[in-house]
Amino acid sequence: MRSQNIRMAKATSTPPLYWIVRNSEIHHRGVFARCDIPKEAPVIEYVGEKISKAESERRAQALLKKSKETGCAAVYIFNLNKKQDLDGSMAYNKARLINHSCDPNCEAVQSRGRIWITALKDIPKGTELTFNYGFDLENWNEHPCLCGSDNCVGFIAGVEYWPELKKLKKKFTPKPKPEVQLLKEPAPTKPRKKVASPTKPTRPTGTRSGGKAGKTKAA
Ligand SMILES: C[S@@+](CC[C@H](N)C(=O)[O-])C[C@H]1O[C@@H](n2cnc3c(N)ncnc32)[C@H](O)[C@@H]1O
Ligand SMILES: [Zn+2]
Repeated sequence: MRSQNIRMAKATSTPPLYWIVRNSEIHHRGVFARCDIPKEAPVIEYVGEKISKAESERRAQALLKKSKETGCAAVYIFNLNKKQDLDGSMAYNKARLINHSCDPNCEAVQSRGRIWITALKDIPKGTELTFNYGFDLENWNEHPCLCGSDNCVGFIAGVEYWPELKKLKKKFTPKPKPEVQLLKEPAPTKPRKKVASPTKPTRPTGTRSGGKAGKTKAA
């Protein structure tokens, strides 16, 4: 049953007309526009193995265990419908390499049991393709975002969670150190000793004419 699903998925994987895999500045590898892509174009299908919710839960738990042991485990499971999910962790699913952005140029659209990564806007050739992973706030601080967009919220999270995320970030941001506050409000200084006025030049006792005044001061 499972291998049948994989064969089906392989047969439906999209040819690389619109996309190409390259190294990304966001994270390791990413998927890039091979040519100009028009808004609303179905760019690449997110293919994989259709699995039951129970199997999906089992795999998610295994991933969680792996992430606790090794510190890294990417999640490739998509919600498909009430009964099934799609596990896209297979190497032939190149859409799994698309990185997250807080200002994405694509979105994942579900249609008749299939998931298409679709252009949200006109995308110029060479641009990295991104979509919002839509993560909730569970373990939010374990997913820092490096998308580099002007509106980056700093962590990978769905837009609907941003107001709450901003509050969390504020709450957990370390307060400025006291030294920094001292720079803003300097402590009152001791009254300085009266020094010779520049308009009344004096020659320090014991120095020859032309001697360094500073030397005398330091003595
Ligand atoms: C589905 S993979 C994407 C492909 C990945 N770049 C690769 O080469 O395997 C998801 C992982 O990529 C990384 N990633 C994706 N988008 C990111 C972003 N905006 N900032 C930081 N890391 C990101 C995270 O480690 C995430 O767990
Ligand atoms: Zn970001």
